[in-house]
Amino acid sequence: MRITLKLIVSLIVVVVFVALISAWFNVRQEKAKLYDEVRSHSALLAESFKESVRHNLETGNNAGLQKLADKFQNQKQLEGVAVYDADGNLISGSSALAPEMLARAPEINALIGAASGADRVYAIGDKKIFLYPLTLTFNETKKARIVLFTNISYIDYDLFKIWKRTLLRLLAQMVLISLVTLLIVRWNLVDPIIQMAEWMKNLRIGDVHGHAPPIKGDIFAPIAKEATTLATNLQAARRAAQNEARLRHKGESLWTPERLKEHIKIKMEGRPLFVVSNREPYMHIKEGKDIRTIIPAGGLVTALDPILKAAGGTWVAHGSGEADFEVTDNKNRIKVPQEEPAYNLRRIPLGKEEEDGYYYGFSNEGIWPLCHIAHIRPIFRREDWKYYYEVNKKFSETVFEEIEGVKEPCVLIQDYHFMLLPGLIKAARPDARVSVFWHIPWPNPETFGICPWQKELIMGLLGADLIGFQTQFYCNNFLDTVDRTIESRIDWEHFSVQKELHTTMVKPFPISVDFQQSGKENKAPAVKPELKSVMKEMGIKADYLGVGVDRIDYTKGMLERVKAVERFLEKYPQYQRKFSFIQLGAPSRTHIPQYHRFLAELHAEVDRVNWKFKAKDWKAIVFVEKHHDRSEITKFYKIADACLVTSLHDGMNLVAKEFVAARDDNSGVLILSRFAGASRELKDALIVNPYDIEQMADAIYYALTMPKTEIEERMGRMRQDLHDNNIYKWAANLIGELVKLRMDDFKLTEV
Ligand code: G6P
Repeated sequence: MRITLKLIVSLIVVVVFVALISAWFNVRQEKAKLYDEVRSHSALLAESFKESVRHNLETGNNAGLQKLADKFQNQKQLEGVAVYDADGNLISGSSALAPEMLARAPEINALIGAASGADRVYAIGDKKIFLYPLTLTFNETKKARIVLFTNISYIDYDLFKIWKRTLLRLLAQMVLISLVTLLIVRWNLVDPIIQMAEWMKNLRIGDVHGHAPPIKGDIFAPIAKEATTLATNLQAARRAAQNEARLRHKGESLWTPERLKEHIKIKMEGRPLFVVSNREPYMHIKEGKDIRTIIPAGGLVTALDPILKAAGGTWVAHGSGEADFEVTDNKNRIKVPQEEPAYNLRRIPLGKEEEDGYYYGFSNEGIWPLCHIAHIRPIFRREDWKYYYEVNKKFSETVFEEIEGVKEPCVLIQDYHFMLLPGLIKAARPDARVSVFWHIPWPNPETFGICPWQKELIMGLLGADLIGFQTQFYCNNFLDTVDRTIESRIDWEHFSVQKELHTTMVKPFPISVDFQQSGKENKAPAVKPELKSVMKEMGIKADYLGVGVDRIDYTKGMLERVKAVERFLEKYPQYQRKFSFIQLGAPSRTHIPQYHRFLAELHAEVDRVNWKFKAKDWKAIVFVEKHHDRSEITKFYKIADACLVTSLHDGMNLVAKEFVAARDDNSGVLILSRFAGASRELKDALIVNPYDIEQMADAIYYALTMPKTEIEERMGRMRQDLHDNNIYKWAANLIGELVKLRMDDFKLTEV
């Protein structure tokens, strides 16, 4: 039987059952009520009749009695009355009753013998008669009985009407139920399933646009969610396969997630990858009662998450989100990303003192300003150093737990938070292949020499087998620093350091972005965002747009950028009310006083410039200070005429690369600081000195007036460069280099 029919029949059976039961009770109640009415009415009548009958019996007035009986016949339902003596002989009765009484004499006689008030019902002819008896005493001792004959056929008719009404109502309900069930099933189940089947067929033959299936509503929500993921994966796999085929055809060697996965599998012989960083790739925060996942701002996460997504493995990081440990298991592990788990995140909890000393203090008030020439004094406190060492140790213990049982594990340590970690790991696990990637600049030896613990830090770092920097220049600085700080053998030809029995290779690995993914995100909005509508959302009107996307940090040259916009609007007044600059700023390291001061100064500068050029419906600068998710940022990348990356000093700066990756229309101009590592690769950007405000103002003007063909040529070349040198290639090079190292050889020479 078809499902719809089954549903209808089941519903009807239930409804009929309920309706019949309730009708039956209804009828029973009604019947009892009507009989009660007849009974009490008969009792009243009999009582009113009683005295006259007694009088006639006592006076022996039979004619009077007959007259009385005839008076009460044929009134409404009352057929008549009869009076019997104690032996049941009829004394007198309504004339109209004679035939019936004759016909049913035995039943009537039986009733005469019964107690007073014990009524009976008999069918007499086609009538149903209710007999009500009443005993009376006359002449003190003699008994007689009055019997009232009431026609109650109407009761059956009334009850029949109730049944009829019930059945008619039932019939109507059955028709309605069938109709409504048919429509509900059709609209809510059959139609969506047909559409879903059609969508799946199209998906199979590759004719689907968008990833979401055409089914809605809460019943289908779980299926829709899974189907969307399935479609996304299928389309991604298809694209990857097409890409592979195209590349094979062209003889190109583009690095894709699939290729990296294969590469790592072969190179690492199936061993998992371990990444260690301070910042975690996914943070769980509280929003009211809910827990929300956010992706922290910063180049490190942007670069490494796609690698782990492609290759799997474990990422060990500080669990800094307030709800982080509410979602992890009892080992502080969680699979990420939540929608499509690809790798393990192992979170390490840190106490307030640890975070203050190791993260805010030593790492970000000490090493960070030490490595960036931004003219901010580094602060080194003994207390912070102690925590820096302890937290490095704490991380090493967790790493040991994770790599336990893995032979020659590959550990990729990230950044300046863990300079002691390579040494700590190597001491306990000499078989581990340890690399450090230094995301920020490495200063010259004089600058590094400011640090009171420079020797310990260099020794810790040299525990690594491989140290990667963003540029060759930073590699040179590092080797110079090692040379000046400790006794070791430096091989300038192969760029390596030998210390005791261990050799550390030093190489540049310019980090990059997931070019394809950024392109995809770029295409994500169904309707391409329009400058006008986005500006409207921001409450302004503008024809030209500049954008800046940064963690709010004094190294990013944000104040200089504001001054450059001011100068540009001054020097080229025709752009006032036409050009706006939007600065998206993610709050960062907010507990550090220097960052507080910087933020306050930035707000003041933005206010000053906006006040200077104040106009209705327009603002020179819109500063949005909040954490933006990737799709929001991409929207601004896509509509901006120019992106301003004006760092005073920066290891690489992936905002520059993300902007280029997002511009699949080959338009937009990148204005890039010569002090950002990215300027070594993105030569088609307008390269500026962020301290030269005049030059930056001119660069903005140049970007807005550049011929379209030149914009396209420049952007096209930069895109090609990023396409070829994406994050997968970076990872493949770094990991390839790390596994290539012949560990045994390092023990041959002692310095
Ligand atoms: C830079 C550093 C990263 C850091 C990121 C964000 O890119 O090189 O190591 O993660 O800034 O800073 P935060 O202090 O928020 O981790």
